[in-house]
Amino acid sequence: MDLYEYQARDLFEKYEVPVLAGIIADTPEEAKAAAEKLGGVVVVKAQVKTGGRGKAGGVKVAKTPDEAFEAAQAILGLDIKGHVVKRVMVAAGARIAKEFYFSVLLDRANRSYLSLSSVEGGMEIEELAVERPEALARIEVDPLEGITTEKALEIAKAAKFDDELAPKVADVFVKLFNVYKGEDATLVEVNPLIQSEDGDIIALDGKVSIDENAGFRQPDHEALEDKDAADPLEAKAKQHDLNYVKLDGQVGIIGNGAGLVMSTLDVVAYAGEKHGGVKPANFLDIGGGASATVMAAGLDVILGDEQVKSVFVNVFGGITSCVAVAEGIVKALEILGDTATKPLVVRLDGNQVEEGREILAAANHPLVTLAAGMDEGADKAAELANA
Ligand SMILES: Nc1ncnc2c1ncn2[C@@H]1O[C@H](COP(=O)(O)OP(=O)(O)OP(=O)(O)O)[C@@H](O)[C@H]1O
Ligand SMILES: [Mg+2]
Repeated sequence: MDLYEYQARDLFEKYEVPVLAGIIADTPEEAKAAAEKLGGVVVVKAQVKTGGRGKAGGVKVAKTPDEAFEAAQAILGLDIKGHVVKRVMVAAGARIAKEFYFSVLLDRANRSYLSLSSVEGGMEIEELAVERPEALARIEVDPLEGITTEKALEIAKAAKFDDELAPKVADVFVKLFNVYKGEDATLVEVNPLIQSEDGDIIALDGKVSIDENAGFRQPDHEALEDKDAADPLEAKAKQHDLNYVKLDGQVGIIGNGAGLVMSTLDVVAYAGEKHGGVKPANFLDIGGGASATVMAAGLDVILGDEQVKSVFVNVFGGITSCVAVAEGIVKALEILGDTATKPLVVRLDGNQVEEGREILAAANHPLVTLAAGMDEGADKAAELANA
């Protein structure tokens, strides 16, 4: 999950990373009041989860509260790369002497952490990496050791900070790593990290991505979620701990195991070509224990999608036998009762497949069609979605 700049700022503050005061505002009036409260020159900044805000007109300096009002008026509602600005942050203005760059991120390819830093900050880092790669220091960070003071000095030196600045920025690198580690982040980026005219090092803009897999040990992170922006069906799936991603098609998909669900999407998309171009409506992995309640929750989410015309349940019984899955489907349909109105094609295979099929055949539910194989099931589901 990516955070907004103001959320990153708050986290930085918690870890004693030097930041400037910032107040969020949803209206020009609030922005004006914030500027009055902060006093002096402020910067009004669009809060959107994308880069390049400055270039798009989403960062404006305001010398007076009235100017902050006008700046907010211009920025709120602005479309920045498909993200409409609903909120701004009014930040205290800094007197910038120099702009630097620092980030620490998860380096999946090398199974490690990586820090990137440069004394040439401010500009887009992708550009710098291409145009002047020698100006961007890449230093591997051992995940077990993290960024110690010693490591931070090594990073500062590689990025060509001078001897006077190096210990000052190194101190901030250590604190930024504390954010990275303490919040289970996969990215902490500061661009620009500045030296003010008074010589202070300040994080002026922050980007933080946090690893949602660590949510179980980060109770505070739930409050950072953007509830309005989330798809209501995805939110419902999340409540039930289901791995669900909404797609744009008509055939609802339920399977167990991410790999099987992914291939089911492919097979359904392929079968759909023969049936009016119908496509998969979602990705939904109910995981290992396909119990009745999990199955009911999954079906409930999928049937709640108005675009869905048919559902394909594709389950391979492993540790959970097909008997449990079949019973799960029958009970799920009982639980859902009249709310289940769309045809279901079920393909079962694996552990206790015969017994599982017998249970479904015996239940003889009018909405359920049994399929012998995956291709046959995909074809039937696509056909029903197109009917
Ligand atoms: N509080 C501030 N005081 C003074 N100048 C600022 C302040 N915040 C930002 N700026 C200036 O505006 C520039 C752009 O701001 P910022 O880095 O926050 O946005 P951005 O880089 O355009 O957006 P993004 O990082 O999303 O691509 C900074 O490089 C800095 O020069
Ligand atoms: Mg920036």
